[in-house]
Amino acid sequence: MIWGEMADQKRFHIITYGCQMNIRDSEAMAGLLAQMGYAATDDPEQADVILMNTCTVREGAEERAYGRIGELKALKKRRPGLLLGMAGCIPQKDGEEVLRRAPYLDLVLGVHNLHRLPALITQAIDGCMPVYEVWKRSPRDRDLPRLPAVRTHRVKAFVNIIHGCNKWCTFCIVPIVRGLERSVPPAHVLAEVQELAAQGYREITLLGQNVDSYGHDLRPRMDLADLLRLVHDVPGIERLRFTTSHPKDMTPRLIEAVAKLPKACEHIHLPVQAGDDEVLRRMRRGYTAARYKEIVAAIRERLPGCSITTDVIVGFPGETEEQFEATLRLVEEVRFDACNTAMYSPREGTRAADYEDQVDEETKKRRLWALNKLAERVAFHINQSLVGTAQEVLVEERGERGTLVGRTRTHKIVTFDGLDDLIGQAVPVRIASAGSWVLRGTLQCAPVPAVV
Ligand code: SF4
Ligand code: F3S
Repeated sequence: MIWGEMADQKRFHIITYGCQMNIRDSEAMAGLLAQMGYAATDDPEQADVILMNTCTVREGAEERAYGRIGELKALKKRRPGLLLGMAGCIPQKDGEEVLRRAPYLDLVLGVHNLHRLPALITQAIDGCMPVYEVWKRSPRDRDLPRLPAVRTHRVKAFVNIIHGCNKWCTFCIVPIVRGLERSVPPAHVLAEVQELAAQGYREITLLGQNVDSYGHDLRPRMDLADLLRLVHDVPGIERLRFTTSHPKDMTPRLIEAVAKLPKACEHIHLPVQAGDDEVLRRMRRGYTAARYKEIVAAIRERLPGCSITTDVIVGFPGETEEQFEATLRLVEEVRFDACNTAMYSPREGTRAADYEDQVDEETKKRRLWALNKLAERVAFHINQSLVGTAQEVLVEERGERGTLVGRTRTHKIVTFDGLDDLIGQAVPVRIASAGSWVLRGTLQCAPVPAVV
């Protein structure tokens, strides 16, 4: 993602790969560079500093990043003054290996020392050697200065509430690169939400790899339900969301908080990963398919109309055809509003990478295709049931096709015609037609109660 351009200044360009955590980190890097007097540019040719914020969750993501940085090498050859840096999860995993693969980099930093960016850039400009600094562990949040940020969106903003993960799923690199869980003190979260409200933001998403385990490491202990209550009454904020939740940590207290708090939206992203108990056990997910379905039933009972989205991996080591079919059955049965799907990709350092029964690529591709088709069909049917209903849509921006674009409380994208003045407002929109991923509607003149 790229920030808007300003004239007559040194310029920076940030390329971001990966998850919402990385997008949020890039916002902080942009904020730090803006504080140093740099302006953003979306044209790498115009940039004095290019930073790539990387992801290593799958081999493909890693190869894409190295490929892109390789392309930028040509630009650096033409403009030797250009400062080229790599940040994020690849340096955190590979360490100095990054400089062996891309020796033309001027700067390499990890995820735990992001706040050191200004000092490292100054060092890189002044020196003739590449600057390499990757901290193995994160300083405690209370020891960190609050970082400035140039936000990606105008209407919605993401607030980190917990960093890292303690779950150690056998396929996942996140605990290795992001470290163990550290909850952000509630006072810091509240201050950031208040600041964002004062800047005109309307929607806040509380963010973490494992957001529903928030607070277990705080004294006094608290949980995500407490935090939602704490930030709920900040004036100006109309919607609250949180992501990503882990099924093991989803509690009746949290479901009850979402039901009781009017600003908490009826959408829960709850990664299931697989529908077969043996696969789930080997993934070390800590629940069975039946338990997962119980949790979904509890959510739907207390929050009728709540959308539930998920993540699914196909081709985990040893996954048989029958086990894959169990995943298809679960997707059909639970009726997810959307599935983020991926083929399993072995990551060095994770337990599953050493499993000997790896599934071949052709089988993974075939299963991914079948799963995507099913997920699309399920989503299409769910969305058809919304045609004719009125939905409260928070308008986020004018889209590339000229329509306004916003989201329902259930996180579905809605496009409709209207004036720019509506950006930032929650308005009633009657749904006229629906595809699997986008609803099309018309603005209602008078507010009508939303149906979810
Ligand atoms: Fe990775 Fe599992 Fe933690 Fe999610 S819960 S970040 S999949 S280790
Ligand atoms: Fe990728 Fe790092 Fe996020 S590996 S998914 S950017 S935590």
